[in-house]
Amino acid sequence: MKRRNFLKMSGLGAGAVVTSGSLAGFLVSFSGCKKEHHRGLMTEPVMITEGDFSKLLSFPSSAGANQTLTAQATTANLKGANIPVLGYQPNSLLGPSFRINKGDAVNILLQNNLSEHSNIHWHGLKVPALMDGHPDQLANAGGTFRYQFTVNQRAGLSWYHPHPHEMTGRQVFQGLAGLFIINDAEETALNLPSGQYEIPLVIQDKRITGTGIAYNPSMEEVMAGYMGESIVVNGAYSPYTEVAARYYRLRILNGSNARVYNLAFSNNADIIVIGNDGGLLKNSVTVKEILIAPGERLDVLINFSTASIGSEIFLTSKEFGNGGDAQGKQSFRIMKFKVTTAVTGTFTVPANLSAINTIAASSAVKTRTFEISNAMEHHGYPMNDGMQMRHRINGKLFDSKRIDENVSVNTNEIWVFDNSNGDEPHPMHLHGVFFQVLDRTGGRGNLIASENGWKDTVLVMPGERVRVIVPFENNTGKFVFHCHNLEHEDDGMMLQYQLS
Ligand code: C2O
Ligand code: CU
Ligand code: CU
Repeated sequence: MKRRNFLKMSGLGAGAVVTSGSLAGFLVSFSGCKKEHHRGLMTEPVMITEGDFSKLLSFPSSAGANQTLTAQATTANLKGANIPVLGYQPNSLLGPSFRINKGDAVNILLQNNLSEHSNIHWHGLKVPALMDGHPDQLANAGGTFRYQFTVNQRAGLSWYHPHPHEMTGRQVFQGLAGLFIINDAEETALNLPSGQYEIPLVIQDKRITGTGIAYNPSMEEVMAGYMGESIVVNGAYSPYTEVAARYYRLRILNGSNARVYNLAFSNNADIIVIGNDGGLLKNSVTVKEILIAPGERLDVLINFSTASIGSEIFLTSKEFGNGGDAQGKQSFRIMKFKVTTAVTGTFTVPANLSAINTIAASSAVKTRTFEISNAMEHHGYPMNDGMQMRHRINGKLFDSKRIDENVSVNTNEIWVFDNSNGDEPHPMHLHGVFFQVLDRTGGRGNLIASENGWKDTVLVMPGERVRVIVPFENNTGKFVFHCHNLEHEDDGMMLQYQLS
């Protein structure tokens, strides 16, 4: 929220001279905010400090259908030192990557060796409500939770991470996350680059100190989301990898708490977008840069044969507009690809990737609009707890005992996320379903290449209003939907729908 909005709201408009000290005191008494660190209200970008791209990129170990994930305090080597982190396996930031075929049953035991409760949400998997890592479904410290479900959905890149309310941001930031890749026959038939030519990339920003990954958001950082100064990819700080001069398939997850990236290559290479959150697109779309928000995934093809042997190409994030006060203000490099080997052989990008039925807007039986513009300016929605400056949806904060939306099985609905009056980006995520993005008005005004096909998270920038159509099937139960800026989510920007 912008300072002037707060001043307007509180009656401290132009002319009122307030020192930051007295404003802070005023805010604490006025808002009764549970977080006691109102100092200034301006959100500032956290600038990235690049490393020297000398650490070899690693790949998370792989896991199959029967697996124990032990959430634990461990250490990882970051910036040359072993520092305390959280992990699902020893000595690593990320958990193992699952590779599962469509139709397989999985049996995954979470052994929670943390000193606090946790759980696992399978982000992008359609699983029964009680297996979904709802914030009510927890493994206590020292306890376990067994996840059993059948993977019955098309190929795609999903991921897993903790979801204990008010603790998700810290547990993810300090290291708990992993990939979940589903394969199916439709995808296999395309003969996309595979094996060493298929590279999963989990992009995250961290605050790396000599004593661990710092996580202590101030009020401003709850507002903007918590961002780090260091980029890690697959848990490695400032990495590089060697590639052959040929096509590669990059499977990209933005696993950051809050940071949005505008991905591009330093040699201005074509980015051939073939998939997103929900798997392959119908047809590929070629772009030079593409935004990816926390929780979103991208499946892209890159042709390194346009570069000469010995050349170095960087995956970068370029500046972008419309991201509010704290996002898109800097261009920086994420990782390095060193083209080291010549290969012969050809690969042609398939003209058609996948069959996707477009869901007509006219099939919707109901439209629900969610006001996500602001913490305090509630635009007519009553706030359920006075004047606290918090992130809300329709003026409400998360309450696991309250069902916010009742949805009927086997119906299509249009959900509208309205950030028209907002000044922060909100990547909105629904559990339990995939949706199609119908349109975006205001702000960027258009859909981007990765917003065709099936999505579970959609970025709604300041000034934007995004409509999605959701086919609710018959996976009954209580599910959450929320902003995937994890500080916003933990702050309460999460509601629940009951499908019955
Ligand atoms: Cu990845 Cu409820 O989120
Ligand atoms: Cu999810
Ligand atoms: Cu948000």
